[in-house]
Amino acid sequence: MTGLDDLVPIVNRIQDLVISNASCGSLDLPQVVVVGAQSSGKSSVIELLVKRDFLPRGTGIVTRRPLAITLINDKEEYFEFLHLKGEKLHSVDDVRSEIEKETFRIAGPDKGISRVPISLKVHAPDLLDLTLVDLPGVTKVPVGDQPADIEKQTKDLVFEYISNPNSIILAITPANQDIVNSESLNLARIVDPQGKRTLGVLTKLDLMDQGTDAVDVLSGQTYPLKLGFVGIVNRSQSDVINRKSLSDSIEAEKRFFSMHPSYRAMAGKLGTAYLASRLNQLLLMHIRNKLPDLRAKVNSLVSQTERELHRLGANSFDGNDRGPLVLTVMLNFAARFNASIEGTTENTNIT
Ligand code: GDP
Ligand code: NA
Ligand code: MG
Repeated sequence: MTGLDDLVPIVNRIQDLVISNASCGSLDLPQVVVVGAQSSGKSSVIELLVKRDFLPRGTGIVTRRPLAITLINDKEEYFEFLHLKGEKLHSVDDVRSEIEKETFRIAGPDKGISRVPISLKVHAPDLLDLTLVDLPGVTKVPVGDQPADIEKQTKDLVFEYISNPNSIILAITPANQDIVNSESLNLARIVDPQGKRTLGVLTKLDLMDQGTDAVDVLSGQTYPLKLGFVGIVNRSQSDVINRKSLSDSIEAEKRFFSMHPSYRAMAGKLGTAYLASRLNQLLLMHIRNKLPDLRAKVNSLVSQTERELHRLGANSFDGNDRGPLVLTVMLNFAARFNASIEGTTENTNIT
């Protein structure tokens, strides 16, 4: 399968070292925020990255509250909602219906939108410690019980999440709509004008009119975006109803690209697996940028400890061995930390 598996061991190694010494700070991995118009495929993309089929999806307004999904690398596998703390859920169907129930509870039974997030933790051995945020789409025209200023409300909500400089923006645009009018790209450009943290995702390539294709957008000729676009094909609504599995869907996507006359030549840079690997690269880059800072903190901690030991040794240690032992532990920690940095730096050939 796809996902962000490659990074799991590297991040775990660093995280273990860092967490075992809280004063070193943390890697502070970016959160991945998914934005796009309603029904552009946001929830579908998140499911692919989490490799689990747990979100409500549909052609109407389904996501009506922000959903913060915290992935936790853990030996045990379960879901846990913040509002149901202590209750471990094991079935994706239970998770999906709880999200629906919680949405109704706060945002009402109709089409209302609430800025109060739902928090869900996903524990599993194949996940990277990371937070993904699924957001309601920007809504232009109020429907149902939506207030007249629904567009402003939904935009404000999106801004709240994408303005955080530590977020990676997955800007979703369906390929069967005009890219120039893409709400997600227009919003992303406001908070990230240089395009350093915005990755374009073009969904629904299978739904374009006969004889048309998105090659110009995908090759960067239509819309300038520094990190570029990844084209994908998610499950259609009938696939969802027929419970087509995620792995079958990824196989079908591969076939679609490799057999399509326009996409065949660029198939290696298309699809869900490629999207996951691009995201991997962005996260690794982030980790790499954080390493000098962490290294400085570790080193200052070592000298702090040395000073402290010196002080203690001079006064109250009267001959026992504890001082040098603590120092040894600290120095071992620093050595292992530095070694893990070297390893990581070697493994990241991204420029
Ligand atoms: P969201 O509202 O942005 O979260 O969009 P969803 O992920 O809920 O998807 C909206 C609808 O579009 C669902 O019925 C999906 O099955 C369908 N959909 C999403 N991506 C694709 C795609 O690439 N191709 C096709 N055919 N349908 C898609
Ligand atoms: Na939808
Ligand atoms: Mg959604």
